[in-house]
Amino acid sequence: MTNIQILKRLYNNYTKKFLDRIFVSIFFSLLVALSTSAIAYLLDPAIEKIFIDKDRELMVIIPIAIVIVFATKGISLYLAKTILAKVGGEIKRILQLQVMQSIINQSVQNIDKKHSGKFLSHLNYDTNLIQKLVTDTVLLATKDVLTLIGLIGVMFYQNWKLAIFAILMIPLATVVAKSLGKRMGKITTESQEVSGMLNTFFIEVIKNHKIIKIFQREDYESKRSDSKLAKFIEKVVKIQIILNRATPIMETLTGLMIAGLIYYSGTLIMKNELGINNFFSFLAAMMLAYQPVRALATLNMGIFQGISGAKRILPIIDSKPIDKNEDKKLKFDSGNITFKNVEFKYEKGSLGILNKINLNIKSGEITALVGHSGAGKSTIMNLIPRFYEPQNGEILIDGQIVADFSIKSLRENISLVSQDITLFDDTVKNNIRYSKLNASDEEISRVAKLSFCDDFIEKMPNGYDTIIGENGVRISGGEKQRLSIARAMLKESKIILLDEATSSLDTETEEKIQNAINHLTKGKTTLVIAHRLSTVINSNKIYVIEKGEVIGEGSHNDLIKSSEIYKNFYNKQLNKLNENNL
Ligand SMILES: Nc1ncnc2c1ncn2[C@@H]1O[C@H](COP(=O)(O)OP(=O)(O)OP(=O)(O)O)[C@@H](O)[C@H]1O
Ligand SMILES: [Mg+2]
Repeated sequence: MTNIQILKRLYNNYTKKFLDRIFVSIFFSLLVALSTSAIAYLLDPAIEKIFIDKDRELMVIIPIAIVIVFATKGISLYLAKTILAKVGGEIKRILQLQVMQSIINQSVQNIDKKHSGKFLSHLNYDTNLIQKLVTDTVLLATKDVLTLIGLIGVMFYQNWKLAIFAILMIPLATVVAKSLGKRMGKITTESQEVSGMLNTFFIEVIKNHKIIKIFQREDYESKRSDSKLAKFIEKVVKIQIILNRATPIMETLTGLMIAGLIYYSGTLIMKNELGINNFFSFLAAMMLAYQPVRALATLNMGIFQGISGAKRILPIIDSKPIDKNEDKKLKFDSGNITFKNVEFKYEKGSLGILNKINLNIKSGEITALVGHSGAGKSTIMNLIPRFYEPQNGEILIDGQIVADFSIKSLRENISLVSQDITLFDDTVKNNIRYSKLNASDEEISRVAKLSFCDDFIEKMPNGYDTIIGENGVRISGGEKQRLSIARAMLKESKIILLDEATSSLDTETEEKIQNAINHLTKGKTTLVIAHRLSTVINSNKIYVIEKGEVIGEGSHNDLIKSSEIYKNFYNKQLNKLNENNL
């Protein structure tokens, strides 16, 4: 997208909605322009009528007029800015909401690619730049343009020769500003990247704080934060310096203008072409023009900054995935899942992870995947709810190719207990309720009982209303598992996907979890990635996965005889059980 296209889009999508309010703000800007010009103009009659003609009546009227004009300027400026602040706030909210929605709906693949810190930076930093562009920069500029026009009007009214002289100076200022603007866009992009890095780093420090402590990397991380912060501040200061660079240039230009003006007015006054009253009014207009000229000269910096923010945010907003088959609903019958020659790799050009996988996951049964770490078990499971799409082959549910139907209708019927359990920093109750928002308290306590959560929930200070902390830090690993089983159970979906946590548990907890799983999977189509013997023995069919391929299938008794890898797995688990029982 070119810069002009971006500006057009920002206008159409965000600014246009608020045109009525923006016009009101422009109306007040017009009042600001008129009153500012009036201030400059009033010096003319003030000097002529009061100081030269000594008019007693006007000696009262003109000061009153001046008070009124200043008050009008102040109030109008306040109203114009307040309206814009509100519009700006709303535009920022819309932008942030769109970024949030896009992230919430983003494909798993796209989320994997970026650190959460980067997303955070888009959400805060970039939306701020765009807000500034559409409100402060563009709209306050209208105030400055109007004021400038008014003041130039006063200048021409007082003396056209002097006015032309002054106006000739203005283009000089804009040439300087243009080059500064381009640099500004570039530095802003750099500073955004550094800000993203900083967020990323910060999140990691908080998330990994125990690892930092146990390996005693406090100094190391402090030094790293110092260097990252230094980089960020360097960019921020650079932006400020570029902004400030306009000041000496503008000041010098103003000095030149006033010097030239005084010289030129001198000659005009000597030729009797200019009155002293006209000169002062003219000078006042020119001085008042300084602020709007300066603002307009730096205007393009804000525009370039905003565009650089938009260049990062608009692609995110646009990348909200669209479900091609939104209208086609998958019809669930019994919930048989079939994999036909499924091949998958995480990224183009990377190593293939799954190779010609054929599975038949029957409804009402428990099917288990067994295999070494990194064999591809979780990957297989992730393909069922279409977190990722296979490059070749098909996945069918009750004879329908899932890729041809809406994702919504597919996921409605699937429940997942993942390997790394994820919970929200909310109450126990709300964490369970997450899978069915309209569930009653009775339903929640029923599933909590069935998944053996009620014993630990009752011991908590506020029972079901206890907040469990970020990803459940305030409860134990086994409790987290049971809570996530309760959550999955509440959904009552046809298909249950269960990726067992690899960490081992004590026998008593293991038994509880096993019983919870039994309640969860009763009468459902269940695919379980088994790390524990009890789960495997419980299942009706087992697939042995090795290096992305199915190398054995059958019941426990079949596999013990036919599969070496399975036998190994079985023996290891058996040993573990024996150790635990000793
Ligand atoms: N998001 C990802 N992007 C790229 N590669 C991945 C991703 N997730 C997993 N992999 C790779 O895919 C392979 C299979 O991983 P997978 O998670 O399916 O193994 P697994 O059988 O579930 O292992 P475990 O028993 O340890 O959980 C691994 O080599 C892993 O490095
Ligand atoms: Mg796994």
